[in-house]
Formats: sequence, C-alpha cells, structure tokens
Amino acid sequence: MGIIKDCINKKNVDSIPVWFMRQAGRYLPEFRKIRSKNTNFINLCLNPELSKEITLQPLKRFNIDAAIIFSDILLIPYALNQSVEFKKNFGPNLGFLNFEELLKITEEEITKKLNPIYELIKLTSKDEILKNKDLIGFVGATWTILVYMLNRQSPKIINKEILENPNGKTLMRKIIDTQKIHIKKQVESGASIIQIFDSWAGLLNEDKLEEYIYKPTFEIVEFTKNLGVKTICFPRSIKSYKKYCDIVKPDAISIDYEVNPTKIAEKIDIPIQGGMDPKYLLLEEKEMLKNAKKYLEIFSNHKYIFNLGHGIMPETDPENVKTLVKFVKDFK
Ligand code: CP3
Repeated sequence: MGIIKDCINKKNVDSIPVWFMRQAGRYLPEFRKIRSKNTNFINLCLNPELSKEITLQPLKRFNIDAAIIFSDILLIPYALNQSVEFKKNFGPNLGFLNFEELLKITEEEITKKLNPIYELIKLTSKDEILKNKDLIGFVGATWTILVYMLNRQSPKIINKEILENPNGKTLMRKIIDTQKIHIKKQVESGASIIQIFDSWAGLLNEDKLEEYIYKPTFEIVEFTKNLGVKTICFPRSIKSYKKYCDIVKPDAISIDYEVNPTKIAEKIDIPIQGGMDPKYLLLEEKEMLKNAKKYLEIFSNHKYIFNLGHGIMPETDPENVKTLVKFVKDFK
C-alpha cells in the first residue's frame, strides 16, 4: 500500500503522489528493446515474466509511487474471442464479432485466457521494489470497450452502427460481466487500486451519457468498492466532470489536459489526478516545470495525485520525466 492509496483515502501524505499513464511504454529504450523481439503485442501482454519486467522498468528509473500493470484494455475483447492486432501507424485492429458464440463464453474460459495477467500481478505485487507503493490494475470502461468491439478500430466519430446496433445492449451486458470478472481477479491477485479508462467518453452527446457511461460505470465502480478497493476514473474529455463525479461516485477522478483545472478545483471535492498536457514533456525544462507548477499550485488545497492529462508520448525523453518527478517530489 502506498501514498496514492493514502491520498485517495484522504490521509495526509509527505509528498505529492506521482505516477504516469503509459509510464511503461515506447519512450523507454528498454521497453523498445523487448518490444522489438516480441512483435505480437497481445502475446507480450500475456507473458508474465516479460510483462512484469516492463511494469517495473519505470520504477527502476524514477521515484514514482505506483506501478501500473503492463497490459491493455483490449484484452477484454481478446478474452471474448475477438481477434486484436496492432498495426504499425494505425493502432488497434479488431476482428469480426460472432455474437452468438460470444454470449456463450463462460467465466472459466475468460479467466483461463486472461490468467497470465493474474500471474503477472501475483509476481509483481511481491517484488521488493513495490514495498510501500501501489500496484494499479485497470479496465477500459464499458463504453470504450463497446466502441472498440463494434467499430473494430479507434473511432473518429460515433456513428449509428454503434448506437443503433441491434446487439448493442446484449453486448454491453456481456462486457460488464467480463469487466467484473477481470477486476475481481486482478484484486485477488494483488492490485491495490483499479483505474477505469474511458478514452472515448468525450465523443458522446449529453443525452446518451446516462445509458452508455453513467449507468455501466456506476455499476463497475460500486462492484469494485465492494471488493474493498479504490477506483480512479478517467472519462477523457467528458462534457462535465462534476456531473460525472456526482453520478458515478468514483473514489478519485483523473482529468484530461483540455479541461480548465481552476474550474475543476472549484467544483470537485474528491481527490483529483492528472491534467498536465503530455506535450509539455517535449518542451524545454523551464516550460515543462512552469506548467507542472501551475497544476501543483491550483490543487495545493486539494487531495491531488500528479499525473498527465493522457499517456506519455513515445517521443518523450526519459530524462525529462526524471526532472519532472524530482520537481513534483520536492514541491512544498
Ligand atoms: O499505462 C501503462 O503504462 C500501462 C499499460 C497500458 C497500455 N495501454 C499499454 C500499451 C494501458 C493502461 C493502456 C490503456 C489503453 N489501451 C487505453 C486507454 C488509455 C488511452 O490511451 O486512452 C486505450 C484506448 C488502449 C488501446 C490501445 N492500445 C491503443 C489505441 C494502442 C495503440 C496506440 C499507440 O500508442 O500506439 C495500444 C497499444 C499499446 N498499449 C502500447 C502500449 C505500451 C503501444 C504498443 C507498441 O506499439 O509498442
């Protein structure tokens, strides 16, 4: 257990907790080395020894407070027997769905397919390097998973094929059931916090939020709380973070870089995470730290976990990450 959990529990902490989305990833040469020898990304996620090594890579370099398991939100479609590939310069590419077959998939089959992830968590949570630190497990939110499964690639807009799909409702229920299985197994294996990534929350109009975002995410958050584990929700670019927090009731909220942090600080009482634009890590040190300071000052009277408004970009120099972490840790 670490200071990120303490912060979410509203306890006082000695320094600002910090970790980064995509902290294990392509900006690290040691990751690229492993990745170049493992061309199948899903298989790499399903290799407990290698994914443990990748999970811990950023902790060997930086004084950060948590590891996030090296995995992907698209392992849920994979568990439901939809093929998932990553094409260079294209992103994820998913296969056709067989609804009838998909609905027959059992809990045993799902946990069997995803078992290497639970092995990874068991192996990693025992590692000395995570003493007094958190191990963050995660899932994609129901809406974001639904979009990937029906659109079969990252979406640009939300079309009728997604919102009016005759199998949409049944598929959502199957996704929720699978998310619960996956969260429960991650927690039993040693994940101390669960983050819920809703990367495509910003693409939905207000009138659809209840059905596709608030209702299913509330159910998942409630389920996770009942397991005794805290949730951080990241509904990227959602129209109103305040309304989302009031309805979904996550334990902490992760904000994107387009939302005005001053307004968020005024409106939201629960612990807040993130916000800084990852592009600042590509700029001069002075510019980067000035922006970091802005977030640290705005949230100085709040429970705040330092993080970015989206994942670290592949072009980032790891030395800048190091400088940023030191700055956050020394901030008083
Ligand atoms: O944050 C971490 O370090 C933990 C691991 C993690 C990955 N993906 C590894 C990954 C996490 C938490 C994710 C979440 C994820 N995956 C999201 C939600 C967050 C977000 O970015 O909005 C989404 C939408 C996905 C789906 C996904 N996976 C996409 C769109 C891509 C391709 C985009 C890209 O960056 O190339 C991936 C691949 C992926 N997942 C990589 C990593 C390190 C890059 C793999 C590679 O090509 O080497």
